[in-house]
Amino acid sequence: MKVYKYAKDLGDLNTALREAFEVKANPYKWDTLGKNKTLLMVFFNSSLRTRLSTQKAGMNLGMNTIVLDVNAGAWKLETERGVIMDGDKPEHLLEAIPVMGSYCDLIGVRSFARFESKEFDYNEVILEQFIKYSGKPVFSMESATCHPLQAFADLITIEEYKEKERPKVVLTWAPHPRVLPQAVPNSFCDFMNEANVDFVITHPKGYELCPDFVRGAKIEYDQRKAFEGADFIYAKNWSAYNDGVYGQILSKDMNWTVDTEKMALTNNAFFMHCLPVRRNMIVTDDVIESERSIVIPEAANRVVSAQTVIKRMLNEIIY
Ligand code: CP
Repeated sequence: MKVYKYAKDLGDLNTALREAFEVKANPYKWDTLGKNKTLLMVFFNSSLRTRLSTQKAGMNLGMNTIVLDVNAGAWKLETERGVIMDGDKPEHLLEAIPVMGSYCDLIGVRSFARFESKEFDYNEVILEQFIKYSGKPVFSMESATCHPLQAFADLITIEEYKEKERPKVVLTWAPHPRVLPQAVPNSFCDFMNEANVDFVITHPKGYELCPDFVRGAKIEYDQRKAFEGADFIYAKNWSAYNDGVYGQILSKDMNWTVDTEKMALTNNAFFMHCLPVRRNMIVTDDVIESERSIVIPEAANRVVSAQTVIKRMLNEIIY
């Protein structure tokens, strides 16, 4: 069964974008496609946008939707094999997953990086267990290393707002008080590397992302230089990826906050962020409230990206 995790899983991105714009123009055109089909969304972590947009996407396609918050009302789940389960976790994921699979036709999983081990996170142990044991098609609603529905929505938004054929898109690290995963920047890199954009990544030294996602992208350690001539600024915090410091905060340098002075270096760039965003850490009030901030339409496009992917998955199980 196909898993939607990487840009390549969508096939030709221009075709995927055309489908997405069709979905956006006429969201209820396929409102019987999901009749008598159930979408289960399993959340191991909090969410506002993913929860609402994915549920709305399923409903637009006529699906029944079930949401399970694993940490709010479900049995606490053991995830490791070989553990003597004499603690506070009465159920093992290896029984829970096939049970969940028996109640639905498609499963979306949100399960963040744990930062206990880079190997555990980058092997996507939780998502992979759903893929292996649920018996149903699975998609990532942000897993340990990827957030494809966010990155696809970002690409849709860039395509809608771009003012030139091949815009310059800059992914910039920005400070944050807590340890955050690399999933959003990983998937953003993955999608931008496949898109028709001039893609530049800027971050302090030590914040290099996983090479599998960065691939051939340009890295510029001088944030101001990176911003010059940019058409889109995509801000995001992430924790360190490198061995020995994996999952650590190496800097909270507020000189990296996106402000009006830095935006003035750009080609009147649009400002993007996946949200939720820490104002005046990642970005100043003035920039996020400016007329070039497109964070709200970007979030709205989460319905479009989710609906396009779920529509494809329904077609794959029906036909
Ligand atoms: N951008 C995003 O995934 O938002 P949530 O964490 O609120 O779902």
